[in-house]
Amino acid sequence: MLIQALLKSNTERNIPMAGNIKSILAVLMIALFFVACKSGKNNPGYEFMPDMYRSAAVKTYRVSNFFKDSLSAREPVVGTIPRGINNYFPYPNTNEGYLAAGAELKNPIPLTDSVLEKGKQLFLINCKHCHGEKGDGKGTLRVKGDPFPVPSYFDAVHLALKEGNMFFSITYGKNLMGEHAYLLTQEERWELVHYIQHLQKPYLEEQNKSASSN
Ligand code: HEC
Repeated sequence: MLIQALLKSNTERNIPMAGNIKSILAVLMIALFFVACKSGKNNPGYEFMPDMYRSAAVKTYRVSNFFKDSLSAREPVVGTIPRGINNYFPYPNTNEGYLAAGAELKNPIPLTDSVLEKGKQLFLINCKHCHGEKGDGKGTLRVKGDPFPVPSYFDAVHLALKEGNMFFSITYGKNLMGEHAYLLTQEERWELVHYIQHLQKPYLEEQNKSASSN
């Protein structure tokens, strides 16, 4: 009963109030309208929820108050490895570079079965179509009467190749062979060198045998 009476009296009282509230709101809105606009072209006036269009993220190369030194462009964390450093190769693509790489470079990756297996997979994907699955130069890209056929890894010249020369030629390419530096990491190229030497092994042993019997 009491609640009903209260509700009734409240609604009765509110009906005449509703008109007043509306007009007060209207006045406030108009006032806000004037307050929100400011003279001066460069002043945007009052902004509602400014973070919606003014991101808190730092703008590139702008001063930032977040860090004590006010720099927004931060130094890389100590020990950061720049992208592409894996491809740093100090030997220039010249004949001198080729000879120096052959004389100085040693395969930094220890030979294991899994390295050989990885080298084999890389070889089948990247090299087989020219060099042939066995490395004899009889890949599917071989053209009959080709004036520059892909060589076999097992002729005297290629059996005598140093690992640094192989790495150099895989990196930069050689004559008809394209460069592979952008396709394969240095590690992958050294794994390939291991695999080529693995293919050459029986031929090298054969060569040594016939050399000692002569
Ligand atoms: C487009 C065909 C082609 C592809 C693909 C190719 N090679 Fe060759 N490769 C050649 C030719 C042709 C030569 C001979 C270059 C010369 O001595 O004139 C050669 C030579 C080589 C040599 C001897 C380099 C030297 O210093 O004499 C090695 C080692 C070699 N390739 C490894 C590879 C490996 C590893 C791959 C795969 C990552 C590969 N090649 C992919 C065509 C190819």
